[in-house]
Amino acid sequence: MSEKSLRIVILAAGRGSRMKSGLPKVLHPLAGLPMIGWLLKTAESLDPEKIIIVVSPDMPDLEKAVTPHEIAIQPVANGTGGALKAALPALEGFGGDVLVLLGDTPLISPDTLRGLIKARKGGSALSLLGCVVEDSAGYGRVLLNADGTLRTIVEEKDATAEERAVKLVNTGAFCLDGARLAGWAGRLDDGNAQKEFYITQIPAAAAEGGAVVVTVTEDVTEVRGCNAREDLAALEKTVQNRLRRQALRDGVTMMDPESVYFNHDTFIAPDVLIEPQVFFGPGVRVERGAVIRAFSYLEGVVIGEGASVGPFARLRPGSEIGEGARIGNFVEIKNSSIGAGSKVGHLAYVGDCAMGAEVNFSAGAITVNYDGVDKHRTVIGEGAMIGSNVNLVAPVEIGKNAYIAAGSTITRNIPADALAIARERETIREGGGTGGRKTKR
Ligand code: UD1
Ligand code: CA
Repeated sequence: MSEKSLRIVILAAGRGSRMKSGLPKVLHPLAGLPMIGWLLKTAESLDPEKIIIVVSPDMPDLEKAVTPHEIAIQPVANGTGGALKAALPALEGFGGDVLVLLGDTPLISPDTLRGLIKARKGGSALSLLGCVVEDSAGYGRVLLNADGTLRTIVEEKDATAEERAVKLVNTGAFCLDGARLAGWAGRLDDGNAQKEFYITQIPAAAAEGGAVVVTVTEDVTEVRGCNAREDLAALEKTVQNRLRRQALRDGVTMMDPESVYFNHDTFIAPDVLIEPQVFFGPGVRVERGAVIRAFSYLEGVVIGEGASVGPFARLRPGSEIGEGARIGNFVEIKNSSIGAGSKVGHLAYVGDCAMGAEVNFSAGAITVNYDGVDKHRTVIGEGAMIGSNVNLVAPVEIGKNAYIAAGSTITRNIPADALAIARERETIREGGGTGGRKTKR
């Protein structure tokens, strides 16, 4: 649906004081993407002529996060009505649909919003999205006329006990006739419990002049607002559940989906198996047939086809695990490429390394990539055998098929096919184990 006669206003200037945070509320992430990012994706999918985000003057990070969309500044935080007023210059002379959304209600679906826009097309000056919730605490209550159209909205703090019992709440989303907006906005006042301008006076004013349609969404999770950390956790849960469902639909096997955490940008190909308790940070791509075993933590990594990772593996940004490679337990890999079929089976650290194919990197071996000031690279040729407890002191290159004996500390480049042993020669003194030492026997 192309809606070039649509403009979307997102209110995001609130301080979000109930979050007790230094970060503007709408910048708090859900699956790694700021709340406002989720809402913008949805808003953009409606293909509006423009999107206007209302921010307060002290939110440069938020302004950056919403580029290239238009910004309107609300000079003082005097309520949601004040926020809408701040957007009026950006709507001047516009006679199309204005869709108003709350920045702290980020999971509303495009379909629901399309329904809200369509509902107004029946001839109402305004349509409003309501939701029936069990626990309506904190929301404005929607009071209806006998014919199901809007009578008014009362905020919890201004509601009587009887009104508080109403379970139909204002989600904060509404669609209105742009040509009428300035007239309604001129009537906003702050004569209420919070001494704020309530945007909810606008639907109420519209209802005085004609029928206001109320569309109702069944899905409480999509319209939950975020006021406090508890809400943030609930929204995170909703997002994670959506991402899990999507992964299952895309052909991913998860034994315990609820214990797997995705980032909004995680890509998992079909026929990947994810065991329980796995965390995906930003920038992970897992190719077909790979297995991610339990208790693994992955960020910024591409896992090749048929590779296996974990259990208990930590893969850090800038890494690439080749086809069929095996990364075992208690292995950390950072900013490294691991060639196809290579094995880093257990208890190893690989950092800033280009490892060829079919390398064996044994237990306890590490790249010594940091000299206390700078990081250095290690290059390992294909087919090399890195023995147990080897230190590869970077910068260093190990040639193809070279063999590094266990316990060696390697500081010079090793040519292809060479054997390197860099450790103290073993000495054995017969009887020396008991000589001069008290024993029990
Ligand atoms: C608001 C509604 C309530 C509704 C609920 C849905 C009003 C008066 N109340 O209450 O009816 O049920 O949302 O979640 O509108 N904002 C500004 N400038 C301000 C104040 C707020 O831009 O001066 C923005 C906030 O950044 C936020 C949104 O408006 O994204 C909602 O503000 P908030 O204070 O959270 O309103 P609620 O009390 O939740
Ligand atoms: Ca809110």
